[in-house]
Amino acid sequence: MKLQAGILITIEGIDGSGKSTLAKSLQEFFNAQQIETILTKEPGGTELGRHLRTILQEQENPLTPVAEFLLFAADRAQHMAQLIKPALAQKKLVISDRMADSAMAYQGYGRGLNRDMIARVNSWAMDNITPTLTVYVRVEVATAEARRRARSEKVTAFEREQKDFMERVVAGYDTMYAAMPHVILVDGSQSPQEVFDNAWKQIISYLKQHHLLV
Ligand SMILES: Nc1ncnc2c1ncn2[C@@H]1O[C@H](COP(=O)(O)OP(=O)(O)OP(=O)(O)O)[C@@H](O)[C@H]1O
Ligand SMILES: [Mg+2]
Repeated sequence: MKLQAGILITIEGIDGSGKSTLAKSLQEFFNAQQIETILTKEPGGTELGRHLRTILQEQENPLTPVAEFLLFAADRAQHMAQLIKPALAQKKLVISDRMADSAMAYQGYGRGLNRDMIARVNSWAMDNITPTLTVYVRVEVATAEARRRARSEKVTAFEREQKDFMERVVAGYDTMYAAMPHVILVDGSQSPQEVFDNAWKQIISYLKQHHLLV
């Protein structure tokens, strides 16, 4: 298999949906197919992102929603310029664990910020580059909560959020992705192996259909 262009795949879904688990399996899979694959994440893909991740996770006083959004957007701009664009120019496959749609789902639908403004700032930060395709790992809020409890890592600011916030985020993702041809939906309530099989088959078929993979 050979890529015909740089490809950006983003993985989206709520906290604990299984994005990072899937992203890692996909990276291993594509690398095994001799397709050079970079796995990155937002926030955290760059030095700025790593600092930001710590700030956001350790914030005791809640950030005002606009400040929160702009911090993520700043990270996104850096991530795009420093890491993603150069990799795409080298015809690599970039898998990003979260990207612009997370801001739309969390700060837009979740917190009620102006969605047109979010869309505009997101496009600006991304230099108008859009993902080739997006994998939406969909789970119910209760499933994600149970997994996060089992994982029992340090609880992040987002994970302390009310259940109704997470419900709005899920509904936001559902609305946003209802009619988007570049979005692959996977049922995240299945086993990690099933989620992975479902995802890679749909990804390969999409890329072949669009002559991005031969
Ligand atoms: N398909 C699955 N079935 C059951 N458990 C899963 C599945 N995928 C992941 N898990 C487990 O659920 C937990 C959350 O998964 P993961 O860290 O991949 O989610 P995430 O979407 O990256 O979460 P976050 O947004 O908080 O980073 C982990 O403990 C992981 O091992
Ligand atoms: Mg993760």
